[in-house]
Amino acid sequence: MDNEIRKKVMLSGIQPSGDLHLGNYLGAVKNWGERADEFDCYYFMADLHTLTVRQNPAELRRRTLEQLAQYIACGLEPEKNTLFVQSHVHEHAELGWILNCYTMFGELSRMTQFKDKSAKNADNINGGLFTYPSLMAADILLYQADFVPVGEDQRQHCELTRDVAIRFNNIYGDVFRVPEPYIPKAGARVMGLGNPVSKMSKSDPNGCVFLMEKPEDIARKFKRAVTDSDTEHCVRYDREAKPGVANLMNIYSAVTGKTFEEIEKEFDGCGYGVFKPAVGDAVIETLRPIREEASRLLADKAYLQQVYTDGAEKASHIARKTLRKVYKKVGLVEKPF
Ligand code: TRP
Repeated sequence: MDNEIRKKVMLSGIQPSGDLHLGNYLGAVKNWGERADEFDCYYFMADLHTLTVRQNPAELRRRTLEQLAQYIACGLEPEKNTLFVQSHVHEHAELGWILNCYTMFGELSRMTQFKDKSAKNADNINGGLFTYPSLMAADILLYQADFVPVGEDQRQHCELTRDVAIRFNNIYGDVFRVPEPYIPKAGARVMGLGNPVSKMSKSDPNGCVFLMEKPEDIARKFKRAVTDSDTEHCVRYDREAKPGVANLMNIYSAVTGKTFEEIEKEFDGCGYGVFKPAVGDAVIETLRPIREEASRLLADKAYLQQVYTDGAEKASHIARKTLRKVYKKVGLVEKPF
């Protein structure tokens, strides 16, 4: 496409290693959907990355398709966004290999996610876990992405992607666009309901609200949400002193569009016993149409298949061009077919 009319490219992926939750929705997918007119958007299920930790094959397949249905139900319209499965575009693995040869052992050794995951999976510290960031760099650089919306935990991988892109460009000329991470402000992050100082995560299922969860389970989790042990017992926004209440206000604000001031007024004089179920109800009503739409889509396998087929075709078209250029630059003989 002509450079002048080229829309900026936005790209991100989520590993189908667990079911999508409220943090994924409010912190990521919901905002992605709002960018579709402004940017050329690519979103994928990072299934190859998921293999770095041992998976149950049937579940991985199920979650990958569910994630696609949930992306769509959360507002990522397939007509406006390129939605695909990472493993369907073989250029990811191929560029991943090349970039492995331009990523240093020392750099990979410094990645905190590698250190964390190695500690958690001490019996399976495999090569893929170690070289994960080179594959992620390939995901991003294949599409000449300008912006990569990710959580704070992926900042280090994005920085490494930039370093690798710059290193490669310094040797071979302008091959890759150097991407910028697009990280939401700390206040926009959804924290766990059981532990409001760490981000909502499937590894703490009691503090985590899944998109497909039943309303009564969501209600129960909000009723049990940890609030703060301060004595004033009022709904007031103070992230330092009252992280539990601040998190619930954050969630309530995100799903209702109300400001913190409006929320403080609304619950003036009410205790947490009124506030917590109200947040739960608001979340239930926000997730209800998403859950229903995702279930409807999941029953229509042919439609989902059409979406990921179209997505893989569009993605391959771009990925192929970048990979061809890279192969040529590094000195591989051009493929005869
Ligand atoms: N590593 C990301 C995570 O665990 C997922 C991911 C893989 C990704 N490839 C990506 C995110 C490319 C953004 C861009 O959350």
